[in-house]
Amino acid sequence: MEGATPTPAPSNTRIAVVTGGSKGIGLEACKQLAGGGAITVVLTARDEARGTAAVEQIKRLGHADVIFHQLDITDASSIARLADFIKTRFAKLDILFNGMDAGQRIDWMWTSCRQTYETAKQGLQTNYYGTKRVTEALLPLLRSSSDGRIVNVSSNFGLLSFFRNEELKQELNDVDNLTEEGLDELLAMFLKDFESGGAEARGWPAEFSAYKVAKAAMNAYSRILAKRHPELRVNCAHPGYVKTDITRNSGILTPEEGARNITSVALLPEGGPTGKYFSEGEEASFV
Ligand SMILES: NC(=O)c1ccc[n+]([C@@H]2O[C@H](COP(=O)([O-])OP(=O)(O)OC[C@H]3O[C@@H](n4cnc5c(N)ncnc54)[C@H](OP(=O)(O)O)[C@@H]3O)[C@@H](O)[C@H]2O)c1
Repeated sequence: MEGATPTPAPSNTRIAVVTGGSKGIGLEACKQLAGGGAITVVLTARDEARGTAAVEQIKRLGHADVIFHQLDITDASSIARLADFIKTRFAKLDILFNGMDAGQRIDWMWTSCRQTYETAKQGLQTNYYGTKRVTEALLPLLRSSSDGRIVNVSSNFGLLSFFRNEELKQELNDVDNLTEEGLDELLAMFLKDFESGGAEARGWPAEFSAYKVAKAAMNAYSRILAKRHPELRVNCAHPGYVKTDITRNSGILTPEEGARNITSVALLPEGGPTGKYFSEGEEASFV
């Protein structure tokens, strides 16, 4: 792991943290950001060996400005170590690319059709609450940037059209009144309904429920953050259907193409949109 020796980057160099950088869309995003020039990429991964190998792969392409730091987004001390490292080394963060996914592979989900209560709970804890904790820990550093950006890698599975309960849909779409506490209450209700077998009756999304609910919650949280921090650009982006491990390489787009749909949002011109959802690079509706 890289040490935290202060080596200030040139003032025009942007600092980007990518979660889920060991493979798939996150790895490709690291290549694109590091290859674009004037961006130092901090590639994070749970496993040091996999993360270091990913960094070496990017360096072999001639992009030297990439370093590894360990991050398991389910581990509070790991998140704190990353935040300390960025603070000590760079004193700011310009781009947070939340790209990890703790989902089961799609083929497994289809064959077993429904998640169990435990996998649903774990999925929400990691995909939504883990990403939220990383964001909160890095928020002060993003606010120290003159142009801080957060891009949450979302999915068309997080669209509110999957919710068959109009009231739930409206609550999640009512960004003027939605709060983090309200979101927590909705997620607790989802888990309770899931555990009691009443999720479908309430009108929560059917197949892949926890994945869809986690992505919808992340979209809602992004909109809350964008409203609270107008000085930042906080957006969500769907990469398309991409050939990676979670789709068992059954996607249509290559990881490079999928990543491009997200990095293009991360690199929008200064003063661009915030609190928006982008589908394959184009601004689209959260519904
Ligand atoms: N592929 C698609 O078609 C598609 C479509 C819509 C949205 N997405 C979204 O795109 C993003 C990237 O997915 P992908 O397709 O590139 O999947 P992937 O190839 O399976 O990559 C998932 C990444 O998440 C990391 N990860 C898992 N649990 C973690 C944890 N606890 N802490 C830190 N990192 C963790 C994995 O790292 P390890 O090496 O440590 O396992 C891996 O780097 C996800 O948010 C996914 O929901 C993908």
